[in-house]
Amino acid sequence: MAPDDIGQDRALLCSETTSYRISLEAYKEFSEEINVRRLHLFEFEDQPWFPATIRDCMTDYLSHVVNQFNFYEAIVPILEKGVNKSQCCRIIDMGTGAGGGWPKLAELLVQRLPSLQIVLTDFYPNYSSLQRLVSNGNSVMTFEPDSIDARDVPDRLRGLRTQFLSFHHFNMQDARRILQNAVDARQPIAIFEAQKRDVAHLIQFALSPLGVWLLSPAIRPFKWSRLFLTYLLPVVPLCVFWDGLVSVLRTYNEDELIELTKSLDQGDSFLWEIGECRSGFIAIPYLLGYPR
Ligand SMILES: C[S@@+](CC[C@H](N)C(=O)[O-])C[C@H]1O[C@@H](n2cnc3c(N)ncnc32)[C@H](O)[C@@H]1O
Repeated sequence: MAPDDIGQDRALLCSETTSYRISLEAYKEFSEEINVRRLHLFEFEDQPWFPATIRDCMTDYLSHVVNQFNFYEAIVPILEKGVNKSQCCRIIDMGTGAGGGWPKLAELLVQRLPSLQIVLTDFYPNYSSLQRLVSNGNSVMTFEPDSIDARDVPDRLRGLRTQFLSFHHFNMQDARRILQNAVDARQPIAIFEAQKRDVAHLIQFALSPLGVWLLSPAIRPFKWSRLFLTYLLPVVPLCVFWDGLVSVLRTYNEDELIELTKSLDQGDSFLWEIGECRSGFIAIPYLLGYPR
């Protein structure tokens, strides 16, 4: 190929990439323009009667997907700031599920905060996955075997409270309780979601059963029950589909987060930062609150 042809080829490639980006941007803008009202429908995962075997398969899937991508790297400075605002070098992760994102996050954070401890907690602990995660030779992380309610964290668990992809599970009243509990205990809190309440995320999350079908054989710990509940009796993909769509519809937007922080007693004794971290094609909305 002559050098000129190579140049033309590159130009073509660039213009194709640019037009692809423009159409992706246009699609996102279009999607954000449509106002999707917040709907607090039920999620299977939240139901006390929901079998732990299925719930664990769902949190394992979520954790597997998050761990495949490095999209939490962008939030490391926010977590570092939150830890520095607390009295101790500890993170208390609430609604931890199977600990999605923590292996990489722990590695990155310890480079900046060498004495950091990370305690993984959940209302419905996923014992097999958490046991596996903390016994992986990584002494930074431990998990709390007791059920821990994000709305009422025991006093003994002190440090930066974090929540990943779980704040939307709580209705306005309970979401407020979570923030109020942090304010009352004077513990900083950082909340992250991986979705916004818009059409683009509804479409994206509607496709999640495909991910479950494709990725399940690679998810660890290996369980025959996972394969049975994914391929023979496809309860896991169906529940991931429903809970995924409902998660998008339940996600708080910036205005609602501001409203929540304003509704707190002594809320102004905290500084609140609300924003969005970009990591490649993923936007991570967050809320960080810490004592003034
Ligand atoms: C969608 S999963 C998120 C899991 C994990 N943080 C992740 O990013 O992969 C939501 C988690 O919230 C937990 N959860 C539900 N109600 C809770 C509560 N009241 N307190 C703490 N965790 C709760 C569920 O057990 C579940 O593990």
